[in-house]
Amino acid sequence: MQTSEVERLIRISKEHQLMPETYVPWHLLPEETEIFLPEVLNSLEGLPIYDTLTTQQKLDLGRHEAVQVMYSYGWGEGLFCVFMSRYMLNLQPADAEYRFLLRELIEEYRHQEMFAQAVQQLQGNPLPPTAFHSFIGKFTTKYLPADFLFMGSLSIELVTDTYGNYSRRNKQVYTTLRKVFELHNIEEGRHIIFTKGLLERYTNKAGYIKRTLYSFVILFNIYFLRTLYVKKEIYQRIGIADADVVFKQGFVNYKQKFAANCLENVVEFVQSWNGFNRATRWAWRWLLGAKV
Ligand SMILES: [Fe+2]
Ligand SMILES: [Fe+2]
Repeated sequence: MQTSEVERLIRISKEHQLMPETYVPWHLLPEETEIFLPEVLNSLEGLPIYDTLTTQQKLDLGRHEAVQVMYSYGWGEGLFCVFMSRYMLNLQPADAEYRFLLRELIEEYRHQEMFAQAVQQLQGNPLPPTAFHSFIGKFTTKYLPADFLFMGSLSIELVTDTYGNYSRRNKQVYTTLRKVFELHNIEEGRHIIFTKGLLERYTNKAGYIKRTLYSFVILFNIYFLRTLYVKKEIYQRIGIADADVVFKQGFVNYKQKFAANCLENVVEFVQSWNGFNRATRWAWRWLLGAKV
């Protein structure tokens, strides 16, 4: 990526600052007709059980799952900030890359605060990551080489971008949340441009094995993210009697919906540097249900 392009991204970030405190209308309460998560993103819509739920149960399902989504974003971005700070120790403070990452850190910290506030606004009671998720998150943040971590974070950014688009474009969604996603979408757009540029350095010279490994890192990151959302406890909270059975159905249903609605960007990205091959394709199909 050209230095002039990085400088341009830094300039936009400084000149068009989006402050969650003022950009998001926190004072607005949800209207009676508003929902919290577009149905295309909830885990049960599409299943027979969904049609048996009351309007209030559907609303609460969306609220709890939206809380889970924002909580996971905040958690993931927190881990990524730790990594970026570590990565920057080997850069020169006056370099364009260093200065862009500073802007990104500032924005990511603001996002975390914004998501936490949105969770409060929804009276959320987020379910923390499982011990397994927590271990993997911390382990990879500490020990994975930089190129792998940037790969992982870009794949998450691409998926969250898609999520944000569904939410902010759906006029039925609670206005305050739409603005949260709108702000996030704008700033993540710049992070995506930068990270893609940075990764070109790595993918251009990557051979078969490296491409295979990159592809797996992305696959696991997305699988990891997807499995943070669907929770049995949420079904119990909204009063579904057979939460265990519904969880199994919800898991499969959401896998299909996620594959159909949220993977396009990522698949395109992996395709752009030939990350699908005989060693990786089966895993993408099996774990994510991707049509690759
Ligand atoms: Fe962010
Ligand atoms: Fe980001």
